[in-house]
Amino acid sequence: MQPTITVAKVTKSYGKKPVLKDVDLSIEKGQLYGLIGPSGAGKTTLVKMIVGMEKPEHGTIHVLNKQMPNLSTLQEIGYMAQSDALYTELTGEENLTFFAKLFRLSKAEQNQRIAYAAGLVNLTPDLKKRVAAYSGGMKRRLSLAIALIQDPQLLILDEPTVGIDPELKLSIWNELLRLKKEEGKTIIVTTHVMDEAEKCDVVAMVRDGKILTSGSPAELKATYHVTSLDEVFLQAGGNQA
Ligand SMILES: Nc1ncnc2c1ncn2[C@@H]1O[C@H](COP(=O)(O)OP(=O)(O)O)[C@@H](O)[C@H]1O
Ligand SMILES: [Mg+2]
Repeated sequence: MQPTITVAKVTKSYGKKPVLKDVDLSIEKGQLYGLIGPSGAGKTTLVKMIVGMEKPEHGTIHVLNKQMPNLSTLQEIGYMAQSDALYTELTGEENLTFFAKLFRLSKAEQNQRIAYAAGLVNLTPDLKKRVAAYSGGMKRRLSLAIALIQDPQLLILDEPTVGIDPELKLSIWNELLRLKKEEGKTIIVTTHVMDEAEKCDVVAMVRDGKILTSGSPAELKATYHVTSLDEVFLQAGGNQA
């Protein structure tokens, strides 16, 4: 079977600064794939290229057999950006309706998807409030609901749990695991938190625009003869400037 996402020899610079250096990765359907690394490692740049918002300088990216950027593939990608892109003057419900309409869902489908997505992130009681009055965590939850609105095959979530309290963080992770297991979704999550990496099927550790190492959490710990992913990161070169 073809992988859902293939990144081959991808390079990207901003001005003279190289941000991604020869990145290769391959993500199978139904995988929960974690991109882990410190701030500035290049995670956001990489996911933006997978979504098709940025173009690689060199190399290619394929998503569902289409070379990116590709507009029609967007229907199949739910993307949650690192910074919330919300209409703060509108209510949560109006934001969800706006994005549901972009995907040309019927009115009945819209209502059903909005109820589902809002319920998933525990926002149902707050849907009638203006987003300007939301806390940071509520905005993150609304962004996640928007990423799920068209029921995409692929979810690409850039630091989805930053600023979210531990209880909701756990419930979001449980939902991601369920979406993977029961609905066969392919999910990419970026994080700088190693305990989240433990929940991923495959983890790629990123630093300075390079993938230092990748594999399942158990494989990585076995390979480096250590007991935590923090130690894997350091052993794999994460401690070098
Ligand atoms: N639009 C941009 N213009 C210039 N530099 C950028 C831009 N976006 C990101 N960078 C730089 O690229 C590097 C990687 O950033 P980013 O992909 O956001 O990393 P991460 O998401 O892992 O924190 C950083 O050094 C950042 O300053
Ligand atoms: Mg980032």
